[in-house]
Amino acid sequence: MESGVVRKEILELKQLIEKAKLGGGSEAIAKQHSQGKLTARERLELLFDNGEYIEFDMFVTTRATEFDMDKRKVPGDGVVTAFGRVDGRWVVGIAQDFTFMGGSVGEMHAAKIVKAMQYALSTGVPVVFLNDSGGARIQEGVDSLKGYGDIFYMNVVASGVIPQIAVIMGPCAGGAVYSPALMDFVIMVEKTSYMFITGPKVVKAALGEDVTEEELGGARVHASRSGVAHFIASNDREAIEIVKKLLSYLPSNNMDIPPRVDVGDDPYRLVPELDSIVPEDPKKPYDMYQIIESVIDKGTFFEVQKDFAKNAIIGFARLNGYTVCIVANNPQYYMGALDIDSSDKISRFVRFCDAFNIPIITFVDTPGFVPGTYQEHRGIIRHGAKIIYAYSEAVVPKLTVIVRKAYGGAYIAMGSKHLGADLVIAWPTAEIAVMGPEAAAEVIWRKKLESIQDPAEREALLKKLAEEYKEKLTKPYFAASRGYVDMIIEPNQTRAILTKALEFLLTKREIRVRGPPKKHGVMPV
Ligand code: HXC
Repeated sequence: MESGVVRKEILELKQLIEKAKLGGGSEAIAKQHSQGKLTARERLELLFDNGEYIEFDMFVTTRATEFDMDKRKVPGDGVVTAFGRVDGRWVVGIAQDFTFMGGSVGEMHAAKIVKAMQYALSTGVPVVFLNDSGGARIQEGVDSLKGYGDIFYMNVVASGVIPQIAVIMGPCAGGAVYSPALMDFVIMVEKTSYMFITGPKVVKAALGEDVTEEELGGARVHASRSGVAHFIASNDREAIEIVKKLLSYLPSNNMDIPPRVDVGDDPYRLVPELDSIVPEDPKKPYDMYQIIESVIDKGTFFEVQKDFAKNAIIGFARLNGYTVCIVANNPQYYMGALDIDSSDKISRFVRFCDAFNIPIITFVDTPGFVPGTYQEHRGIIRHGAKIIYAYSEAVVPKLTVIVRKAYGGAYIAMGSKHLGADLVIAWPTAEIAVMGPEAAAEVIWRKKLESIQDPAEREALLKKLAEEYKEKLTKPYFAASRGYVDMIIEPNQTRAILTKALEFLLTKREIRVRGPPKKHGVMPV
């Protein structure tokens, strides 16, 4: 062979790759861009370090022949699968290519996704799935549904083994929504993405309701009302930034620990402002975010599901560089009481953190579960039970700070000693009991109170009795006398003590008796 002459097979390969990269063609790419959307490959370039990734299965095509599919087919079959590095760590990326048949999922398209997920699973690296698809490829009938079934199955197999992140960057309708729903985090792009089981047309036909795609399943709706989306982004670029940030807090798999990132914040720093943050009046709220942010490493709080169930706060943070999960009640919403949505929000997050070896720090200020028919009829009993289940099952280090109220079942549920917390810290402002002092006094001394005719006199007595109850039973010293609270500390010491406790607990091995062997428990989902 003459040196310097490139063989024609190699030139042919180059041409084939160029053609494959065009996906559904330049016209479709221009349409994609005109809608403010990037193409599959542009998205992967943003995801991976230096825009570099190894694409595989570029020449996979559909095997379908009906409805001219044999004439329409293009290499890649509407999805790009690849591996590459994100912040230096390997990640598998899957990006649907809307330019070919609307990114619809046929048999081979699905097979590519499944193979990519198998790579991620066998190598123990996170999978990032960039969704942009018209759903099941109509021309492929049940082969397409089979493909979806295989993807869902892989999502379940991978659950709790590798982090799975779904980004919704276009339509996501019908059963297709279930792959993202089975993954750990869903990020939606505002205005260009939506998720629903049935679209506005079917809703109109079936129920006579007029609703737009945005109202039915846009990013805002899922981030604030349904809780399906964990994050929203204003465009593709921002969505991918969120993916990267999220990955930076996570381990690559369930046998790994998250990367440690020292941000240079003194781990034993005292926080004097915490000594005056809890108001005298127990009914007055304060800013729980301020507590969280002043305790963790500066600027590291990364909130999850920020606009959903705002009576609870969840998110990742760092403490002395270590990733921690933060769970907190938010007294600014329903006084921090737990309802159905906040129960779902907390319990799912706790299970994620436990599955991926991330210690959980819980800040408690809750008067209990939200009462009333609305909550009861929708199953607050069933939903609230999930929090108890999740904390009880979690074997990662669990550190709990009781800031103010910790009443009744909610006290137990929110990472109490009784569910296996390793360290329960109470601030002197903590109130721990079956119920609030006034409600308790009304029950205990009901007859005595009823016998008093003068309302002012009755009120004064109630106050006095409530004070007596508070003094004897709700102050944290009572719980501490039983060992249910390990320490009562000055709030300013919270960061220093949590840091030391976390470091001490890093070698924690679960020693609690976990009951008889079983296949799996039956979580009250
Ligand atoms: C085959 C599809 C397709 C699909 C879109 N296309 N969805 N081809 N199967 N599911 C094709 C279109 O025919 C078109 O091809 C190209 O993709 C781009 O679509 P447009 O309609 O031009 O784009 P746009 O106007 O942006 O609308 C996008 C869309 C719309 C809203 C997604 O295409 C649509 O409603 N598609 C059907 C969605 C659907 O009903 N899917 C099945 C859902 S049920 P040409 O050749 O014209 O460029 C489901 C069940 C999953 O997915 C079950 C899992 C268990």
